[in-house]
Amino acid sequence: MLYFQLVIMAGTVMLAYYFEYTDTFNVHIQGFFCHDNAYTKPYLGPEESSAIPPVVLYAVVAGVPALLITATESVLFLLQYVSEDLDNREKIIVMGDCCYLNPLVRRTFRFLGVYAFGLFATDIFVNAGQVVTGNLSPYFLTVCKPNYTALGCQQVVRFIHQQDVCTGNEDDVLQARKSFPSKDAAISVYAALYLAMYITCSVKAKGTKLAKPVLSLGLMCLAFLTGINRVVEYRNHWADVIAGFIIGGAIAIFMVVCVVKNFKGKPLLGEIPPEESVSSGPVISQPRMEHSVEKYMASQNPITYAEIT
Ligand SMILES: *[C@@H]1O[C@H](CO)[C@@H](O)[C@H](O)[C@H]1NC(C)=O
Repeated sequence: MLYFQLVIMAGTVMLAYYFEYTDTFNVHIQGFFCHDNAYTKPYLGPEESSAIPPVVLYAVVAGVPALLITATESVLFLLQYVSEDLDNREKIIVMGDCCYLNPLVRRTFRFLGVYAFGLFATDIFVNAGQVVTGNLSPYFLTVCKPNYTALGCQQVVRFIHQQDVCTGNEDDVLQARKSFPSKDAAISVYAALYLAMYITCSVKAKGTKLAKPVLSLGLMCLAFLTGINRVVEYRNHWADVIAGFIIGGAIAIFMVVCVVKNFKGKPLLGEIPPEESVSSGPVISQPRMEHSVEKYMASQNPITYAEIT
């Protein structure tokens, strides 16, 4: 069933790719009023010259969760291993190296896999919204440069619905037609909320009572500022940013609450059922292995697992 999930994941990534790098989906062409104040803001250059360039945003959104979740899971695993009683540690040794590292690797892969899936899903939601609405960004008329004389805008306030009225750079115009919702706002809030919930739910160490909310709220604040910056740089309207926040936040909550169940999972070393603690030795190690393999399969496929139980 792991293959099935890989197929879904590959499909999601491909859809995101088609939205992002090809013109498979035509943007809806929206009309505008001559000299509409909402669309005549200055154009501060391509996305790369923004205060938060896409490259930096994507690197942070992909790198920080990968590093933080891997590091936290490793530390949690080590702490639990050190604090486990001898009895449990013996069993670990009986089970061998493969199954000893297994819970750590599995949890890390699961949390990061679900994170990546949600990230691509957010990207698809946002791109679909942008393509379907074709909402114009605040600097649209600045890059569109319509010939107002030819369009007859002198006499009355006219609504221009014809296509191909723009004389400006085609790529800039196309970019300016994709405003609602804001992608930067959506993916930054998604990443921040997923991480904040991860920190809050999985770190249980003493002395982190205040550190956890500080770190979580700090991440949320960075995401909030990323969204605000879009409005400050006249790249998005308020409504775009708020819609982006809602989409990213909703997908993060859905992923955490419904898919990874608040990062509960199984206790790292609690793979061995307590009733088996009476017996020991390599003779009974065989059924234990089977048991953990079974659980492994079940955890790889949470949907079927939930249906069975
Ligand atoms: C705008 O259109 C008018 C009338 O068709 C034409 O005379 C003028 O040269 C055009 N201006 C530009 C900048 O293309």
